[in-house]
Amino acid sequence: MSLKNQTVLITGASSGIGAEIAKKFAREGYDLLLLGRNEDRLKKVQSECVNAKTEILAFDLIEVNKFSSAIKTKLSTLSPITVLINNAGIYKPGSFLETQESEWISQFQVNLLSAVQLTQLVWPEFKKNKKGSVLNISSTLGIKPTAGTGAYSATKAAMINWTLSLAQEGGADNIRVNCICPGIVDTPIHDFHSMNSESKNKVTSQMSSYQLLSFIGQPSDVAESAYFIASDLSRWTTGSVLSVDGGIGIK
Ligand SMILES: NC(=O)c1ccc[n+]([C@@H]2O[C@H](COP(=O)([O-])OP(=O)(O)OC[C@H]3O[C@@H](n4cnc5c(N)ncnc54)[C@H](OP(=O)(O)O)[C@@H]3O)[C@@H](O)[C@H]2O)c1
Repeated sequence: MSLKNQTVLITGASSGIGAEIAKKFAREGYDLLLLGRNEDRLKKVQSECVNAKTEILAFDLIEVNKFSSAIKTKLSTLSPITVLINNAGIYKPGSFLETQESEWISQFQVNLLSAVQLTQLVWPEFKKNKKGSVLNISSTLGIKPTAGTGAYSATKAAMINWTLSLAQEGGADNIRVNCICPGIVDTPIHDFHSMNSESKNKVTSQMSSYQLLSFIGQPSDVAESAYFIASDLSRWTTGSVLSVDGGIGIK
């Protein structure tokens, strides 16, 4: 039996913020089910989740429902699921007229609907056990959108609103639902992440000036907050929207 006798399911665990959240929960003694598209990257993160019982499943969140029985089979080999972290996301900026309908649909499917589908999958278990925690990873753009991010920002705003509604439904069954809004975090979702160090420094020092704290975030900054709010440390917190953003949201 694992240290915590609890399992966390994390989407988008093959990269960036999701990979750091996985390693944090592994260190804290959870079993893990890690989802992503890229199997090699998932295997690498799995190997870094030392001493934790970790399963992986690679598929595209465009087709969650096709994989629901595979997810249930993997979960049946682990401790009871108590935490779901809806972290996977894609960011396709573009002006309103440039953004194709297909980009609206794919961002809504990956960033929002897949989270809804996975939550529907685990909710009955949470309800039966009278214990569950859903953490949605939204964005500061879901609160304070900028030009050229309309579709992405709309998915993240919808996620915040859905968090608040779901928290109302879950309370009586001891199911908590919370949301984190990260600011600018250094991950592969941004083009600057893979630039050479000179170009990257140029871009990130400009971005740092947008924050109150004058540096951009690292995935571990979000992972620590995610563990705090999704685990039993926050057993009395539900319906909260936590900004982890260096203060960019109020600047
Ligand atoms: N980084 C930031 O500045 C920032 C700011 C605010 C909010 N966020 C949010 O934080 C979350 C994590 O982003 P990140 O910055 O860590 O980005 P990332 O490094 O690009 O990671 C994105 C993750 O989502 C997965 N994913 C994307 N499309 C998928 C699909 N169709 N099916 C299955 N998995 C898919 C990726 O899997 P594969 O790699 O296997 O394809 C990857 O694991 C996202 O929801 C993002 O919107 C990020």
